[in-house]
Amino acid sequence: MKLNAQYGDGDTSFLAAGGIDGIHKLVENFYHKMDTLEFAQTIREMHPADLTLSIDKLALFLCGWLGGPRLYKEKYGTINIPKIHAPFSIDDPDANAWLECMRRAISEQNYADDFCDYLIVQLRIPASRILAYKNKSA
Ligand code: HEM
Repeated sequence: MKLNAQYGDGDTSFLAAGGIDGIHKLVENFYHKMDTLEFAQTIREMHPADLTLSIDKLALFLCGWLGGPRLYKEKYGTINIPKIHAPFSIDDPDANAWLECMRRAISEQNYADDFCDYLIVQLRIPASRILAYKNKSA
């Protein structure tokens, strides 16, 4: 990692997450949690039975979101996170379940402790925007 770089600067977070391969591994682990943990069944049911496309989309999105190559945009086009979630009825417990699957998946990667903390704090931002967008459009 670059000396003195802060998570959020350039591609520091993308590299801290292990680049494309590391992020793909994280997302596979995340969806495995969602697929198998009882508390996540409500959000699991919002997703298709086959999670292959979900894994690909979230992994490519996170690459760009973490300051790496904008692979989601290249493959799938522009995305607005709150808007794309609008068709699903996502409430507070659903957002918490999503974040808890992420928290567990993150903790199983070989990430620096401070990066784990940083990442989960950052992920709460789009998660709250999803909830706020719903509340406004309800
Ligand atoms: C708040 C809790 C969340 C729930 C319950 C949720 C649920 C879903 C569901 C049901 C889908 C559609 C199925 C699919 O295409 O996989 C989806 C798609 C997606 N979600 Fe979430 N999500 C949440 C938070 C987030 C957050 C915080 C991010 C970004 C950091 C995110 C990124 C994405 C992406 C990139 C897609 C694919 C969109 C597409 O191309 O169709 N989601 N999500």
